Amino acid sequence: MIYSDILSSLTEENRLRTIPSGLGGIDLISNDYMSLGARYSEFLSEFSDNYGNAPMSASASRLLQRYQKDHLALETMLADLYHKNILLLNSGYHANTGALSSLSVPGTLIVSDKLIHASMIDGIRLGHGDTARFAHNDMGMLRKILQKKASLYKIVVVAVESVYSMDGDIAPLRELVEIKKDYPNVMLYLDEAHAFGVFGENGLGVAEELDLLSDIDILIVTLGKAAAGYGAFIATSEALHSYFINCARSFIFSTALPPYLIAWDKLMIEKLVGMKEERKYLRESSAWFRKEIEAITGRPCQSRSQIIPLHAGSATRAIEMASRLREAGIDVLPIRRPTVAEGTERLRLSLSAGLKKEDLCKVLYEVKAAVGHDSPTA
Ligand SMILES: Cc1ncc(COP(=O)(O)O)c(C=O)c1O
Repeated sequence: MIYSDILSSLTEENRLRTIPSGLGGIDLISNDYMSLGARYSEFLSEFSDNYGNAPMSASASRLLQRYQKDHLALETMLADLYHKNILLLNSGYHANTGALSSLSVPGTLIVSDKLIHASMIDGIRLGHGDTARFAHNDMGMLRKILQKKASLYKIVVVAVESVYSMDGDIAPLRELVEIKKDYPNVMLYLDEAHAFGVFGENGLGVAEELDLLSDIDILIVTLGKAAAGYGAFIATSEALHSYFINCARSFIFSTALPPYLIAWDKLMIEKLVGMKEERKYLRESSAWFRKEIEAITGRPCQSRSQIIPLHAGSATRAIEMASRLREAGIDVLPIRRPTVAEGTERLRLSLSAGLKKEDLCKVLYEVKAAVGHDSPTA
């Protein structure tokens, strides 16, 4: 049977995915960057006092939903923060597939970084426009593509992430904005999934940090990471907001998120905006940790964020290193193909504001021991 053959070859190549269990050590896996999710019980009484009667189900897609109060309240709050029009979607996956597929119509070109997230890739694949890709963060290559092709299309969308989910490095956003300004038909599409909550004065992301929010045409944020909730939003112009309501199929044809959950998202974002001290701490501890990892591996670390890759060189080695660290009480998982390219298998160390210096020292001690074992990174 074709499916069992596929499973067998995944097993042979050490790429079979399973749902992890038995985790409970120092958390370097989840995307709860501000450790807000880990503190959820602190907020339960405030939540139930203020929002406890919001419905558990939207009972319809947003366009047919009778009870809009909580969705509108969150959209209004975010619109005030971003000075943009906001549209909630059911997840980051829905946001990227809905937005990119609807933007990609005949007469458009979507130019994307080669390392964008699977949800963006899937959105582009669902579209009907033309596509091109540039090597990761290679602005020279992007410029060449635009010089050659931009004039052939009505609209060109350049799609990137701010903090890349597997490498923790950051797109050269200032340069991207400069490039965009050379072309009247180029729009910038920025996924801030891993930057929201962590970067910027109010935690709005890298675009806020660099004072470039007004230069981003379509900004995507998911709420299941630092925001310790669930869902996503698109921040954009009035015209594109209306366009997505009418043309983004993942928005139109799926039941809206439960108002109860949306109310929780709103409370969490209110907390997140004020977490300036935690943001500072995470930035500092991540910078220190990256240097320590560089010292251990003897290689420069390309990360500029709280996501720090520890390269293993092969799937087998990544699995070995991860299980060794888990035995030592550190929750990490191997990242393999197709999430990352062959030969770049790794552990993805995801730091959060709740990790104290002594936790990080223990992690480094165990990483050193794991890397020391016959490792290509040593
Ligand atoms: C860059 C990026 N965009 C979008 C998503 C999808 O977001 P969600 O988990 O809300 O579907 C992810 C999730 O891992 C991501 O890393």
